[in-house]
Amino acid sequence: MIPLHHSVEFQHHLWLDALVTARTIVDITCGNGHDTVYLLSHCHKNSHVYAIDIQEVALTRTKEKLLKEIPQAMKQVDLILGSHDSVLETLPVSTIDLMVANLGYLPNADHQIMTQSTSTIKALSKGLEKLSVNGLCTIVAYPGTEAGRKEAEDLEEYIASMNQKEFHCSTWRPLNQANQPPILYIIRRRK
Ligand SMILES: C[S@@+](CC[C@H](N)C(=O)[O-])C[C@H]1O[C@@H](n2cnc3c(N)ncnc32)[C@H](O)[C@@H]1O
Repeated sequence: MIPLHHSVEFQHHLWLDALVTARTIVDITCGNGHDTVYLLSHCHKNSHVYAIDIQEVALTRTKEKLLKEIPQAMKQVDLILGSHDSVLETLPVSTIDLMVANLGYLPNADHQIMTQSTSTIKALSKGLEKLSVNGLCTIVAYPGTEAGRKEAEDLEEYIASMNQKEFHCSTWRPLNQANQPPILYIIRRRK
C-alpha cells in the first residue's frame, strides 16, 4: 500500500518508478544516510549515486550506514563534502536522472546548520539544468519552524515559476495532520 501519511515515505514510490531507468542519481543532502541507502538498495547495479552534505559528520554517518547495510554498493557511491550549490557546479556528470533533497537540519547534530533557500534554489537550478528528459527531482521541505517555513515558501515560489513546457511541477502533503508536516515537491523534465 502506498503510504499516505508522510512525504518521505510517499516519495519512495516515485523513486521506485524512476530507479528502473535512472543511472545517475544525486542526493544533495545525505545527512544520516537513510535516503542514500534507500536509493542504493533499489537502483540498478550500473547506477551511481553522488551523496552530498555540508557536514563531515553527515558523511561519516552515511558511510557507516552504507558499510553496515549494503557494503557491496560502496563502489556505486561518491560521498562529497561541500555545500550543494557549489558541488553541483562542478559535479562531473553530463546528465542527472534522479535528484533528491531532504531539507532542514541533521538530527542529533547542530540544528543551526540547516539548508537555506538561496543555496538550495541555486543547487536545484544547477542540477535541473542537467536533469534528463523524464528525469525526476523530489524535495522534502519542513515548514514546522520559522526558518523552514520561509525556505518552503521561497522554494514553492521558485518551483511554481518554472516553465510549464519544460517541467511538470507539483506538490504533495498531508492535509489533516498536526504540526505542519513536511511538504513534498515533485519536478519532472518534459523535454
Ligand atoms: C534533514 S537532513 C537530511 C536527511 C538525509 N537525507 C537522510 O536520509 O538522513 C538535512 C541535511 O542537509 C545538510 N545541509 C544543510 N545545508 C547544506 C548545504 N548547503 N549543502 C549540503 N548539505 C546541506 C545538513 O547538514 C543535513 O545533514
